[in-house]
Amino acid sequence: MEKLIDLISQQVSAAFEKAGYDAALGRVAVSGRPDLCEYQCNGAMPAAKQYHKAPIVIAEEVVAQLKENPAFLSVEAVKPGFINLRLAPETVSSYVNAMATAEKFGLQTEDTPKTVVIDYGGANVAKPLHVGHIRPAIIGEAVKRLERYMGNTVIGDVHLGDWGLQMGLIIEGIREEHPELPYFDPDFQGEYPTEPPFTISQLEQIYPAASARSKVDPEFSARAHEATLKLQQGDPGYMAMWHHVMNVSVADLKKNYGNLNVDFDLWKGESDAEPYIAGMVQRLKDGGYAVESQGALVVEVQEPEDKKEIPPCIILKSDGATLYATTDLATLVQREEDYHPDKVLYVVDKRQALHFEQVFRTAKKSGIVRPETKLQFLGFGTMNGKDGKPFKTRDGGVMRLEYLISEISDTVKARILENNIITGDAVDEIAGVIAVAALKYGDLSNLATKDYAFDMDRFSAFEGNTGPYILYTIVRIKSILAKYAEKAGQMSDDLQILPPENQIEKDLMLQLSRFADNIHLAYRDTQPNVICAYIYDLASAVNRFYHETRILTEADEKKQQGYIALITLVKRVLETCIHILGFEAPEKM
Ligand code: ARG
Repeated sequence: MEKLIDLISQQVSAAFEKAGYDAALGRVAVSGRPDLCEYQCNGAMPAAKQYHKAPIVIAEEVVAQLKENPAFLSVEAVKPGFINLRLAPETVSSYVNAMATAEKFGLQTEDTPKTVVIDYGGANVAKPLHVGHIRPAIIGEAVKRLERYMGNTVIGDVHLGDWGLQMGLIIEGIREEHPELPYFDPDFQGEYPTEPPFTISQLEQIYPAASARSKVDPEFSARAHEATLKLQQGDPGYMAMWHHVMNVSVADLKKNYGNLNVDFDLWKGESDAEPYIAGMVQRLKDGGYAVESQGALVVEVQEPEDKKEIPPCIILKSDGATLYATTDLATLVQREEDYHPDKVLYVVDKRQALHFEQVFRTAKKSGIVRPETKLQFLGFGTMNGKDGKPFKTRDGGVMRLEYLISEISDTVKARILENNIITGDAVDEIAGVIAVAALKYGDLSNLATKDYAFDMDRFSAFEGNTGPYILYTIVRIKSILAKYAEKAGQMSDDLQILPPENQIEKDLMLQLSRFADNIHLAYRDTQPNVICAYIYDLASAVNRFYHETRILTEADEKKQQGYIALITLVKRVLETCIHILGFEAPEKM
């Protein structure tokens, strides 16, 4: 389906043409002055320059062509040359009726679907998920769902940090406590135990302790580096230990991401790149891309047009150890082999921008990816506390995701209990659903690239620009529909939305009509916040309509059916949008 704004533009363009002017001048925009009109066309201003005439004269000529056009309620030329448009009520209602029956509300999806790999999440094995991992999970999940809704084939990969120094630290940390374990015995010939020598909570203590120690104990730190290298070279005991760490940690990560409604198609990690590294390095050497520099192997990525210095991408350290860039490049080799993607999108902390610039340049110049493959870095800002500093627990520690979710759930729960609509066991479950919406909407409604302040009270409020407010709106519509169905019996699906009778009703329909515009914008710019802004406006419009209209007590049956059809469509659009954003509405709240 074409967008309403495009349909209107076509009418105005035709009028420009009939009046003897270039049709391209007839592009309309949503009005900046909703008190004066719904849409406006400013084409008479550039036309004045082009045709050497007063803009108001041109505007009046165009308006004359549109006067009889039944699509409009009013068309006016206003000085210096604006064309102000109001749509006929039927234009608006027939558009939203068409939306109601069209697939995806008439959204035009990609005509040539693309294959897109999204690298998001990025949790580090054996470290608890903390607030730093909340943004990649939330933003990545929303972007993934949006790409999918647009018709693309999307593969979401968590890309675990499972191959770096933290593994060596854990290995050495465990050796300190249990040097007798067979994993550390180079002569061990038997089968390693199948049971891990630690639980998830022990594991989560081992890592921070080892990490802290490595900072003050150079000898321990050197051992951890050595252990990392040995692991990466495939030492059987260390590999067996690594498998334990992975099993215990990944099970816990799956649970945590699951609580956030975040799921991955691939649970790959840096370690999965290992088999591709040797070939990739050889290829970089053979192609003359990688050169030796102070013992290390590097690829120069500086370009003459660069304004700032881009340091070389380090592929191997002088001791042969691999680095972050090495696994990222080898992972691209793997992704190319497995999926041949049109685009690889990374949702990672914006402080890693330089790393990705180096990796992308190396991948492009060496042909690891095809020239047409799009490599995109979506760098997100930091989630701060209300004090503007990175979010911490009350005692200044790193806030674990689980605690954060449970704190929001408690805040939300208090509000639910105040409302007194839900009781018993359902309270906790619904508090969990609302908490996820509060957290995700609070994050996604900000531009991803910006830092933002996490504000528990504001995010979990049922009023204002919040996730719970959106849910509340959906729940309210559900309740009206349920009451209507109770009274009217079986509800038919083909109820017609009638032409709007007042501006509030019309504004609601106009807001509905902008669904595709906003989805396209969010998709084009990889900005889920556009969808948040859209649903906030839509929710506000439907709440105004609800306050002004007697829906359930309306005596005129046709009219009432029209209202029901209208709010049903609003509910469907809101539900679709929140599903893309990655949360759901409860039945009651
Ligand atoms: N594990 C990394 C971190 O915590 C993020 C991984 C991002 N993805 C990637 N392909 N490098 O910083």
